[in-house]
Amino acid sequence: MKKIVTIVGARPQFIKASALSRAIRNKADIQEVLVHTGQHYDASMSDVFFSDLEIPKPAYSLNIGSASHGEQTGKMLEALEKVLVKERPACVVVYGDTNSTLAGALAAVKMHIQIAHIEAGLRSFNRAMPEEINRILTDHMSSYLFCSTNAALKNLQIEGITKNVIACGDIMYDVALWAQKKVPASDEMIQKYTLNKEQKTVFATVHRAENTDNEKVLRAILSALQILAQSHTVILPVHPRTKAKIKDFGLESLLQGIRITEPMSFFETVFFEQYANVIVTDSGGIQKEAYFHKTPCVTIRTETEWVETVTRGWNVLAKPASTQDICTAVHAQMHSAKTREDISEYGNGTTAEAIIDVLIKSI
Ligand code: UD1
Repeated sequence: MKKIVTIVGARPQFIKASALSRAIRNKADIQEVLVHTGQHYDASMSDVFFSDLEIPKPAYSLNIGSASHGEQTGKMLEALEKVLVKERPACVVVYGDTNSTLAGALAAVKMHIQIAHIEAGLRSFNRAMPEEINRILTDHMSSYLFCSTNAALKNLQIEGITKNVIACGDIMYDVALWAQKKVPASDEMIQKYTLNKEQKTVFATVHRAENTDNEKVLRAILSALQILAQSHTVILPVHPRTKAKIKDFGLESLLQGIRITEPMSFFETVFFEQYANVIVTDSGGIQKEAYFHKTPCVTIRTETEWVETVTRGWNVLAKPASTQDICTAVHAQMHSAKTREDISEYGNGTTAEAIIDVLIKSI
């Protein structure tokens, strides 16, 4: 029996890990030990994902919580090393680009434990993003690099990483297909959120540090949503970081007219991704879910790692510091008759199986 330790800590990682855990439960020759660093700890950011996505209770909950990047990553590294000393797995599995990803990879590589990085090779080419540093370092430590897109494969090649680079499709597509039957009924949600069926809906999320931690940028984004809310239903579930910054900068008045909610459960998020006429987001995952659910997307960033969503017409970038740019992009996406091309490289919903097959054979 081969043992892997999976390290998760933040919301998008719970989503991705759910697909792999589900597939592993059907296999006799591989065992998973799940570790939650505690990077996300609010019930609405963590527990609800474990219950909705049927993820087993983690074997280890490290409860690290929020801190500066160095302190948070350092505390995780120390705690994860202890887990790995005890468990001695054949391989550590990490996802994406968060501080939990970097800490997990670093703890493993120092102990000569193989690392499987799922969602390897993504690049924004913006080194001011903590995520860009996390993903570059993790890729260069990893033994198996599972890429969701052709662009990711190419990025790794340019950096000289060619061994055990595997194009396997996007594990989030597995989850999107699995979730289809669990999305709440339209009538129920229309009632719960008193949605006006006559009005077009914009579903918005904002949480990236570069958008929330700069007053001018956050003001520009919220002003755009407020303008859009004059003629559309704008739903904005608010991440704790964003909530704190709105308060710090005194921007509460810009929320008038916008339908503010607490962070949403996965299934309610999927409902709005399907129901909305346009999605406005700075999340990586939601850009792709917009594509999966065929909803046009406006990404409030100056670049994206998911370049194919833009080149194939599903997604447009809008400058976060420009209220006008955001409003113009939303109107264009709302009324665009542009043909959108398929992005079949995201796979067919069997990415988790493909990853496990490689791990069982190789680790
Ligand atoms: C992290 C990831 C980001 C990912 C995002 C998903 C890093 C560097 N960034 O960003 O790539 O897209 O998760 O959401 O790892 N907070 C709470 N309760 C929680 C969690 C956070 O109140 O359960 C607050 C704290 O004030 C914290 C802030 O949110 O300081 C930011 O949380 P953190 O986990 O550091 O980063 P995210 O912005 O969530």
